[in-house]
Amino acid sequence: MNSRVAVMQALRSIKDPESEKDIVSLNFIADVKIEEANVTVQFRPDTMNSSLLDQFTAEIKRAVLEVEGVQKVDVVIEQPDHNEAVEAEQEFGGVQDLNHVKKVIAVMSGKGGVGKSLVSGLLAVTLRRKGYRVGILDADITGPSIPKMFFDGRPEISYTSRAILPPVSSSGIKVMSINLLLKNEEDAVIWRGPLVGRAIKQFWTDTLWADLDYFIVDLPPGTSDAPLTVMQSLPMSGILLVTSPQGLAGMVVRKAANMATQVGVPLLGIVENMSFFKAPDTGSEYEIFGPSHAQETADALDIPVLARLPIDSNIAVLCDQGKVEECHLSEFDAVTAWIERATPDCQLPKMPA
Ligand SMILES: Nc1ncnc2c1ncn2[C@@H]1O[C@H](COP(=O)(O)OP(=O)(O)OP(=O)(O)O)[C@@H](O)[C@H]1O
Ligand SMILES: [Mg+2]
Repeated sequence: MNSRVAVMQALRSIKDPESEKDIVSLNFIADVKIEEANVTVQFRPDTMNSSLLDQFTAEIKRAVLEVEGVQKVDVVIEQPDHNEAVEAEQEFGGVQDLNHVKKVIAVMSGKGGVGKSLVSGLLAVTLRRKGYRVGILDADITGPSIPKMFFDGRPEISYTSRAILPPVSSSGIKVMSINLLLKNEEDAVIWRGPLVGRAIKQFWTDTLWADLDYFIVDLPPGTSDAPLTVMQSLPMSGILLVTSPQGLAGMVVRKAANMATQVGVPLLGIVENMSFFKAPDTGSEYEIFGPSHAQETADALDIPVLARLPIDSNIAVLCDQGKVEECHLSEFDAVTAWIERATPDCQLPKMPA
């Protein structure tokens, strides 16, 4: 038998006394290195309890030494990557017990490419700047772009046996996306509605979000089944609608209103993106994509137009470089202020992390 297979099989005989699952299934084995008769086991448990660690080490050595041809076994213990891993262990019972999220705001658009991800990102960034604890979920699993806006390169994801630990952006926003779980960023994800819903639900239940004031969800584009499934999978507080001047206002209005009614969640307001271009030399504004429909759309829904955002090449560049946290767009301030007013029980925490 292949010696690595034999070693893994030996390791499977060792059980975690708490969960009664074996340490391989629990993902505690980070790596196994075999050099002739010497085996090194890199062990990454989700506990720092020293007597338990001693017990695991002794059992690993005993089990692996029984494998034919093995003469020496070293156990290298790796610490959990995150303090929260320890917290998760202490409060055994599923990470849902550890997640306390006050408000879930979904960002929706009638069609793709209007700047929904940008608005989701800016909302997270501006709320965080005010000191709120913020998480953002890229629920657009067919074309995820949120991690790219927040990180230069691909952040590492850490796991405990019970939870996914979301990467944290430079200003302290917790970011999660299917894109981060794929082996290759380019891997296409082609899933149908129910599967999308299940995956999103799992991001909600199995990610250690801990305490958050705002949880921003970048929904899949359009007003079809996919965003509806997502909204039904999460406890929504409100929906923010993003449009652009070239959008088909009437259709968006009907579908968005319909969907909000179906999920019983209020539409908070409209953000019109790419509304105009302001010439840097003269200050003149040009409505490049035609006249705005935002107000008539808002009137039909009886909600406010919260902002009209300019076309600004700096924004596109910063987003492409993973620097959305450096974007300052004064027109967006009104959106953040409105969201705060619409969700009054989100108390500003004393300590911005
Ligand atoms: N106001 C703006 N000024 C300049 N560039 C913008 C602006 N809004 C968005 N962009 C750029 O346009 C592109 C599309 O924006 P974004 O990804 O936010 O749209 P989306 O609605 O989420 O698209 P999709 O439907 O594909 O998810 C991005 O490259 C983004 O950086
Ligand atoms: Mg998007």
